[in-house]
Amino acid sequence: MSTMRSHYCGLTTEALLGQTVSLCGWVHRRRDHGGVIFIDLRDREGLVQVVCHPDNADVFKAAEHVRNEYCLRITGVVNKRLEGTANANLASGTIEVVASQVEVLNASVPVPFQLDDDNLSETTRLTHRVLDLRRPQMQNNLRLRYKVTMEVRKYLDNLGFIDIETPMLTKSTPEGARDYLVPSRVNAGNFFALPQSPQLFKQLLMVSNFDRYYQITKCFRDEDLRADRQPEFTQIDCETSFLTEQEIRDLFEDMIRIVFKNTLGIELPNPFPVMDFATAMGLYGSDKPDMRVKLEFTDLTEIMKDVEFKVFSGAANMEGGRVVGLRVPQGGAMPRSEIDAYTQFVAIYGAKGLAYIKVNEKAKGRDGLQSPIVKNLSDEALAKVLALTGAQDGDLVFFGADKAKVVNDAIGALRVKIGHSDFGKKAGLFDDAWRPLWVVDFPMFDYDEESGRWTATHHPFTAPKDGHEDMLETNPGACIAKAYDMVLNGWELGGGSIRIHREEVQSKVFRALKIDAEEAQLKFGFLLDALQYGAPPHGGLAFGLDRIVTMMTGSDSIRDVIAFPKTQRAQCLLTNAPSEVDEKQLRELHIRLRNAEPKVG
Ligand code: AMO
Ligand code: AMP
Repeated sequence: MSTMRSHYCGLTTEALLGQTVSLCGWVHRRRDHGGVIFIDLRDREGLVQVVCHPDNADVFKAAEHVRNEYCLRITGVVNKRLEGTANANLASGTIEVVASQVEVLNASVPVPFQLDDDNLSETTRLTHRVLDLRRPQMQNNLRLRYKVTMEVRKYLDNLGFIDIETPMLTKSTPEGARDYLVPSRVNAGNFFALPQSPQLFKQLLMVSNFDRYYQITKCFRDEDLRADRQPEFTQIDCETSFLTEQEIRDLFEDMIRIVFKNTLGIELPNPFPVMDFATAMGLYGSDKPDMRVKLEFTDLTEIMKDVEFKVFSGAANMEGGRVVGLRVPQGGAMPRSEIDAYTQFVAIYGAKGLAYIKVNEKAKGRDGLQSPIVKNLSDEALAKVLALTGAQDGDLVFFGADKAKVVNDAIGALRVKIGHSDFGKKAGLFDDAWRPLWVVDFPMFDYDEESGRWTATHHPFTAPKDGHEDMLETNPGACIAKAYDMVLNGWELGGGSIRIHREEVQSKVFRALKIDAEEAQLKFGFLLDALQYGAPPHGGLAFGLDRIVTMMTGSDSIRDVIAFPKTQRAQCLLTNAPSEVDEKQLRELHIRLRNAEPKVG
């Protein structure tokens, strides 16, 4: 046979019975059954069983020497497997290839782990990423990622979007994270920033009449890393002119629905529910609520203002304070140990305690309640708590009282934790489904206590709601933005906004952010200038591709859908980047390291 490979291992099926095939792949496992040697040969499509009989001396000798991960070419005839030896898990499971030739294309040194070991540490996997990526799960993840991008491209292309590349060596953009900087050799002392997103360029493209832009592109953010964050990650970045917020949301909601349908066959709800930011924070303490969890906050701030219990009344009367109850149906059955564990859990989020009431028998009034705090609450307050939360006999109500941020973070996390727990699943508090939603009407600004300044909640190019322009400087806290996030099962998949397209509004926002005219000109002069040439109304959004694929594959971390990711410490264990560079390179870049210890040895 003149071709190196005639078929894929994993696709060698009964359809090829009796035919001679040439297969190339890696030794997944080699089993020496005394007289006969079996080799499971693996390629991108899966495994096939190869049989090497001793009556073919060359084949048998070669088979005796191969080890795991040797790269082989095998020629042989496709035979039906013996009755009772079929493997229903493999497409090739009813056949085997009887080798007439075994060619070692390349040997392998002993591998540091078994590829089908499910308990590998992440350090092992990332250090030996080349082998890790051979594993079927990683093969599937990266293929699904590719399918998702293909579906996105098809969808957007059909609607007249075009892919335009934007610079990687650019100016700092204010998405709120720290920049990765690149020193300029040619311009001593100057630095490029790697883009945190193409935000400003895509806006400029709208001013330049491209009307519908998209790009699947890398973004760089030097921020604290978590399971859903990488220092370099990929956005599906989109921008349009002359579409309303509703039209933009509809267009991209359809895109996500089609992507899920065409890649996984999953039908997402149509339409996605829409919730405003204030409601999301009120009911779930989060702007990315996990709607699978059927638990809601009850706001008790008002009714706790006059109670004697200082923990509650103090928070209720504090500026920016909040008191909430979280009713857990059937939670009365929760053992004390579980409640104690939750108390420790909320402490991570700054909660100073976790008060609760078990409702044993409502009809008995306070005697029917079991709790460390009932003694501190009047009959009237207790009755209101029961009425507002709707608690029934057998339920438990947790309480959070503190600054709103602490309560929202702590009780919001507790809500999710209980929903996902064994108890929550047994009690029917968790709905195992895809529950997307839009969160809209974000505030324009957040107040940063540390700096005593307002910061942009989304980014400073986001337009205020119609009629809110005049409040930008007078009452920034009350301004609502035309911003929207798409949320799925507790993850923010994407977000965007209608942009400011008039220079005077943009300048007002800069002033509200205490960016003076000079600084605005220095940093964003090119944008302010462009806006003056009849910039069209425009808006868009960006999805986190890594996050979408992570959710689709059911992975725990976005690292599992990125071929060569970084660790939590922003390092690449495979290449050992980042690493030191030569003194000569530094000199060319006009850089001298501070505290650089002279190297010993
Ligand atoms: P934003 O900052 O919300 O918006 O980012 C858009 C989406 O990108 C994903 N994402 C990340 N994914 C992995 N690692 C990270 N470090 C990371 N940071 C963000 C999230 C997020 O929803 N220019 C605006 C978009 C716009 O207004 O059009 C922007 O970048 O899924
Ligand atoms: P203490 O007054 O500290 O004995 O607390 C009485 C009960 O209130 C205990 O169950 C604490 O866990 C709980 N508790 C204390 N501080 C808070 C708080 N900020 N929010 C909710 N519960 C609290």
